[in-house]
Amino acid sequence: MNRIRQAVVMVGGRGTRLLPLTETRPKPILPVADRPCIWYLLRSMARAGIEHVILACGYKPGMMEALGDGSDLGMEIVYSYEDRPMGTAGAMKLVEDRLDDHFVAANGDVFADIDIAAEIRTHFEHEASITDALTPVDNPCDYGIACVDEDLRITAFKDKPRPDEVFSNLINAGVYVVDRDVLGHVPQGRFFDFSMDLIPIIIAEGQRIQGYRLSGLWMDVGRPRDLYRASISVAEREHGGSILGESTGSMFEGTCYAGPYAKIRDSCLSESVVMNGCSLDGSTLNRSLLLPGCVVGRADIRNSILGEGCIVCDGATVVDAVLGDGTLVRAGDRIEGDRPF
Ligand code: GDD
Ligand code: MG
Repeated sequence: MNRIRQAVVMVGGRGTRLLPLTETRPKPILPVADRPCIWYLLRSMARAGIEHVILACGYKPGMMEALGDGSDLGMEIVYSYEDRPMGTAGAMKLVEDRLDDHFVAANGDVFADIDIAAEIRTHFEHEASITDALTPVDNPCDYGIACVDEDLRITAFKDKPRPDEVFSNLINAGVYVVDRDVLGHVPQGRFFDFSMDLIPIIIAEGQRIQGYRLSGLWMDVGRPRDLYRASISVAEREHGGSILGESTGSMFEGTCYAGPYAKIRDSCLSESVVMNGCSLDGSTLNRSLLLPGCVVGRADIRNSILGEGCIVCDGATVVDAVLGDGTLVRAGDRIEGDRPF
């Protein structure tokens, strides 16, 4: 029976490149257009027939539980906890005795609206030990890179290559189909990484690791600009640039989204996403992202991300900045960051 019902999703990392936004929450639950980033990956899994998800938590596990029990997606989500980081393969090893013969495994810190059913079919067609979703990128040094043959079988793999070690721009998107047997190579009770430690062993053993060309939208949400881009993509693809809250006397240019209960008065927005419950009065926003509950007066915000519940008073300017949750920008202040996107 070529059906897979189960997935393990790794969400134990710290998300340091997204500080200060990840100071108050783990990266997978950073909101993208009013839903946790990981929700889109979970929906892709539900659409592929996954009914049972184990979330392998480490950093701020209590906050991950805000995702609930999965019933809104027609699946069951359960949580697994680590006292100390076990690495992505170590996290799977901890739940090995609860796993079926074949399962889906994924890094939970990406934005992914992808076709996992096709990846599962590829896995069984090729009788692979692991199938790995691959996608081309311009900056492969931040990722695991894969060399493939004409059948897309992975023949060489290197995680985080140095610039002089890059042999491919096809990278590991961190969405796998896995035969449970490969966990036999993972030691008990010790840190072990799936892509760094396990994949090279499986290749060296001559077992098949099949590549699968990712279809759909996949973005690593590693840096603030990725969070902005993912939000704009969702605003466009899923909401057609909707303004769900109340808007009076305002202008919207390019793709814009305002979440439910947002109130926008006499403002001018261009290519911006403003989430649930934000209030804008006489504000100008350009290429910016406001997390829920921000309050902005007659201020100018450009190329910036504001964490949840920020307050920006009249006459203030915020440019190229990422502000942590609850930041207060006083009247007339100018904040100029160094993180343009
Ligand atoms: N449970 C658990 N325990 N989860 C972990 C741990 C751990 O010890 N360490 C990391 N994670 C989670 C992170 O939260 C993240 O969701 C995922 O595992 C991947 O870890 P990262 O630390 O984000 O790895 P990366 O982004 O540098 O590289 C990985 O992902 C790339 C694709 O985004 C590698 O798999 C690369 O090969 C890959 O290209
Ligand atoms: Mg990552």
